[in-house]
Amino acid sequence: MSFSAEWLTLREPYDKRARNTAVLDTVAAAMAGRPSIAVVDLACGTGATVRALEQRLPRPQTWRLADNDLGLLARAAALSNPPQLNIQSVAVDLRRDLEFVLDGPVEFVTTSALLDLVSHDWLKRLVTETAARRLPIYAALTYDGLATLDPVDPLDSAMIDAVNKHQHTDKGFGPALGPDAAGTAPERFKAVGYTVTQGASDWVLGPKDTAIQIEVLTGWAAAARDIGAVTIDDVIAWLARRRGHVMAGRSSMRIGHVDFFACPTTTR
Ligand SMILES: C[S@@+](CC[C@H](N)C(=O)[O-])C[C@H]1O[C@@H](n2cnc3c(N)ncnc32)[C@H](O)[C@@H]1O
Repeated sequence: MSFSAEWLTLREPYDKRARNTAVLDTVAAAMAGRPSIAVVDLACGTGATVRALEQRLPRPQTWRLADNDLGLLARAAALSNPPQLNIQSVAVDLRRDLEFVLDGPVEFVTTSALLDLVSHDWLKRLVTETAARRLPIYAALTYDGLATLDPVDPLDSAMIDAVNKHQHTDKGFGPALGPDAAGTAPERFKAVGYTVTQGASDWVLGPKDTAIQIEVLTGWAAAARDIGAVTIDDVIAWLARRRGHVMAGRSSMRIGHVDFFACPTTTR
């Protein structure tokens, strides 16, 4: 599955605003006092996690940014390197080569908007490989399947159900966990003895957030069409009504996400 730079740029400020502050504070406290830090960011996109975290981590920092999309990686690699930030990009298929990016001088794993795309088996592998290396992990912005729209439309819940079904289709890692990842991933880390701090990171989109609402709704309509649980005529009519609310400046949306920080009892 590919993600456009335009979409990642559009969502980044909403992601940034949504990131759970208590979880971020726990990350910062856990890393404070280290003389330096080496981070690997899984599925980095254009580098949003670096921008969200770098102010909260000790310096010097080394970031190994891993993604399989060369266009996104090129943007991430072009990040201006503030003093004491060393950015390296790695083109890698994480489905195949997860272990490769975790090897070497890595002290902290980060990721955002990834875990709902991966399969149960891949998550198991991530937990096993992270725990084997005693690495702490910060995983942000996992979609949890809970979405509310205002004003309410009679088709909203059928559409959201269809979207959540679509979330389970293969996104490149096998059948995806989709919204189940939000509950399953923290539990998996607890099961291997990690201490987990988690919290909500919902997108809260107001009447002025026109472009992102239109993108989300259009994406949902395409997902519902692919799943086929709602007739195509109903999908089109629903999208027209929802677009009408957005363009009239009377639409709000809340889209549920979860962040967590999982830390082993001893770290590297
Ligand atoms: C929703 S985007 C999130 C990007 C970034 N973490 C952010 O929060 O803006 C998902 C990312 O996963 C990457 N990705 C998807 N499948 C991948 C794979 N098999 N190997 C490596 N990266 C992958 C995509 O290229 C994309 O950058």
